[in-house]
Amino acid sequence: MSSLLNFIDYRARARQRLPNALFQYIDRGSEDERALSRIRSSLDHITLTPSILTGIDRPDLRTTLLGQSLDMPVVIAPTALAGLVSYQGEIKLAKTARDLGIPFCVSTQSVTTVEAIRQSVPDAKLWFQLYVWKDRNLTRQLLERAQASTVDCLVITADTPVSPKREYNVRNGFSIPLKPTLGLMLDVLCHPSWLASVWLRQMLSSGMPSYGHYPAQFRSAVTQQTVHEAVRLENRLTWKDIRQIRTWWHGRIVIKGVLSTQDALIARDEGADAIVVSAHGGRNLDIAPAPIDVLPAIADAVRGDMQIIADSGVTRGSDILKYLALGADAVMVGRLPLWGLAAAGQEGANDIMHMLREEMDLTLKMLGTHSVGECRNLSYLTSSAR
Ligand code: FNR
Ligand code: LAC
Repeated sequence: MSSLLNFIDYRARARQRLPNALFQYIDRGSEDERALSRIRSSLDHITLTPSILTGIDRPDLRTTLLGQSLDMPVVIAPTALAGLVSYQGEIKLAKTARDLGIPFCVSTQSVTTVEAIRQSVPDAKLWFQLYVWKDRNLTRQLLERAQASTVDCLVITADTPVSPKREYNVRNGFSIPLKPTLGLMLDVLCHPSWLASVWLRQMLSSGMPSYGHYPAQFRSAVTQQTVHEAVRLENRLTWKDIRQIRTWWHGRIVIKGVLSTQDALIARDEGADAIVVSAHGGRNLDIAPAPIDVLPAIADAVRGDMQIIADSGVTRGSDILKYLALGADAVMVGRLPLWGLAAAGQEGANDIMHMLREEMDLTLKMLGTHSVGECRNLSYLTSSAR
């Protein structure tokens, strides 16, 4: 992949390879995509001030997150339908994460099940992301499956009380269940290598792609028209539900989608082991603040009581360091590994994550910082040009 030198190159290659409807589903935001641009511009307006003459040779990227030793402070975020980006995409992401010494968080809405991922990558650090289904017994059974697959960390996504408004998906016929419109079929036919290497290969090996975790009696292929009520996402979740899930889950619990100090404090008081300060990659609430803007106050309020993961908008190693400098212990990346996967399957996912690692290493040297842990001591400026 020597011709792909940065996120922009990988994204451009992904755009060529994927049907437009799938590319846009991954790439874009919601409504007017203000959150998406706010996330980028907030990250861009932060500068980190270097120290000179500190004699850095090899900065230490290792960290400890939720009791696990990681080779760098990065987690591959849960992303629905990664198995449509590349054949067995979730297994490939788990292998990439294993090779990089970091966790991969499996989505409730993955194509491949957590059991199959565990079987293929026995030594991966797997986390599991939960979307709570209306049927709580089924939800509990799903958690039992994740626990039986030796998953320790459960990430409960709390920022999706309703399906977000993403008009381009409607125009592209990209809804789940998929509606095979003429436009969508033409889009797919214009990407024959994706059709053959992902869709048809999946069809031949295990039938129509579907949400692998959905119980067999409700598991519609992604092309089917109905989602059964039992496995609709619960839109009335409260902290009481978190308490109930606590009694079912024996490992660590992470609440994803926190954007206010008040919610961070509640999460802490409810016994969460960590939070993800996240705007869901600008895909949900279009008037949400950028996570990097709310992070310092949240970190001040809960530092020392629980760990803080942040996400949204990472395209360079330096973005990760900005999140660390402003208070995060680790950072999730969503689109970045998906672009690697789309561009060149396993190799692409590995390469783009190595690129991220090298950029972090280089920037740490430039900053004169010995370790990722020291990023917390960096001074930063938020440019007044905003
Ligand atoms: C997501 N995200 C997500 N989050 C979650 O909790 N469950 C999910 O199933 C999904 N699905 C999903 C699909 C796709 C295609 C994307 C791009 C994202 C959000 C994800 O976990 C993470 O919060 C963001 O992706 C972070 O922003 P970046 O790194 O993509 O900018
Ligand atoms: C998304 C959902 C699946 O962002 O979380 O598409």
